[in-house]
Amino acid sequence: MIIFLLFVLSKGGIMELPQPVQIGEVSVEECIAKRRSVRAYSSKPLTLKELSQLLWAAQGITDPKGLRTAPSAGATYPLEIRAVTREGIFHYIPEGHKLIKEQSGDLRPKLARAASGQSFIKEVPCNFVISCVYERTTMRYKERGIRYVHIEAGHVAENIHLQAVALGLGSVPVGAFWDSEVKELLNLPKNEEPIYIIPVGHPK
Ligand SMILES: Cc1cc2nc3c(=O)[nH]c(=O)nc-3n(C[C@H](O)[C@H](O)[C@H](O)COP(=O)(O)O)c2cc1C
Repeated sequence: MIIFLLFVLSKGGIMELPQPVQIGEVSVEECIAKRRSVRAYSSKPLTLKELSQLLWAAQGITDPKGLRTAPSAGATYPLEIRAVTREGIFHYIPEGHKLIKEQSGDLRPKLARAASGQSFIKEVPCNFVISCVYERTTMRYKERGIRYVHIEAGHVAENIHLQAVALGLGSVPVGAFWDSEVKELLNLPKNEEPIYIIPVGHPK
């Protein structure tokens, strides 16, 4: 499902994601207890529904005022999320719960090389890359805003990890990568910096 729909989406194309569920079958306590870093994945792809659910957990809008699943200092929302899959690179748009295809082709091997060759990155069906625009937060909080942005990335990452467990999936936080290489690979704007990679897939 994910392979076909994401593959046919042309560059610049927008896809509305399926509505996420807000009542699950696994308790938050069970997800916390079971979460473990997973570094071996099967090649089984994620479904579009799973991808949608994970992106919603990361940055979905849960309030008519635009507030999101993860807390944000002053609701400045400095973070951007991209999914790097076999089918290309997709940028999550919280407004309307949509994906925009930014690049076609399998860039996972290059992403793995940019992350000191951590090979699970090229095997996992989906790598979430969290990047940030510091100015959105430092405009209000000055230097301390940098700390807030990093704290916020941790909130988003944990939401992804716990949602992955609830879906029977595995994940691992990856902080070891060359910023400039990931930035270039993802074609990030000048004022946007990559801060976290989170591979998610079916544990082997
Ligand atoms: C900020 C941060 C960066 C990390 N970077 C990596 C990484 O680059 N590669 C990796 O395999 N694990 C990475 N980890 C995962 C840790 O190795 C892992 O959380 C730790 O061994 C504890 O195991 P657990 O997650 O299963 O509880 C990172 C964890 C954190 C919090």
